[in-house]
Amino acid sequence: MNDAPRITCARVTLRRLAMTDAAAIAAYRADPNVARYQSWETYSLAQAEELCRSQAAEVFGRPGSWFQLAIVRAGDDTLIGDCGLHFAADDPQQIEIGVTLSPSQQGRGLASEAVARILDLSFLTLNLHRVTARTDADNTKAAALFERLGFRREGLFRSCAMFKGVWCDELSFAMLEQEWRSNPSAGSAVINA
Ligand SMILES: CC(C)(COP(=O)(O)OP(=O)(O)OC[C@H]1O[C@@H](n2cnc3c(N)ncnc32)[C@H](O)[C@@H]1OP(=O)(O)O)[C@@H](O)C(=O)NCCC(=O)NCCS
Repeated sequence: MNDAPRITCARVTLRRLAMTDAAAIAAYRADPNVARYQSWETYSLAQAEELCRSQAAEVFGRPGSWFQLAIVRAGDDTLIGDCGLHFAADDPQQIEIGVTLSPSQQGRGLASEAVARILDLSFLTLNLHRVTARTDADNTKAAALFERLGFRREGLFRSCAMFKGVWCDELSFAMLEQEWRSNPSAGSAVINA
């Protein structure tokens, strides 16, 4: 698959980022509650425009790349979040994912819906072996999301990452293809590759 998939879920759609998404991305990424466990402190419109510009030229699945899919409301294509897929540089069968939702859209199961469908894409279309996620150990919402979806908590890495001048603990989560296949909600996305 060379182009970004368009994934249709019940309440959200995942698609390639467009330049018209930049203002919405800048708005939620600049929110301190969203930035708290991310690499940035502040997030400008110029940064969001650069992200959209670079992603417009990115090849989906390029080894070593992060590909950011937009999460939009299914009815009207309004951007409500983004989901990053990191394609390992040295292993075509593994990715790491990360997800962000606008605060106004959290607490409704929309991130769970989006990530569940990323798992469908990973194991049904991309034929991956393993999907992983890492979160700050204090990021309880993110940890709850991955556990809700059946990811295995693989380990706690103590003081392993420097974020905003402080050494942080990180949790590692993983889902293997055979673990995903035993999950009854697997495979219900409509994926247009
Ligand atoms: C991580 C993040 C995406 C999780 O968002 P979220 O909305 O809490 O996640 P979900 O979509 O799984 O929603 C779960 C919540 O919706 C509720 N919910 C309502 N309807 C639901 C449904 N149909 N299915 C699942 N949950 C539902 C759950 O009870 C839960 O509520 P709670 O948090 O009060 O327990 C969000 O906190 C975020 O964007 N954080 C900032 C960015 C970040 O740190 N990302 C992590 C990088 S890996």
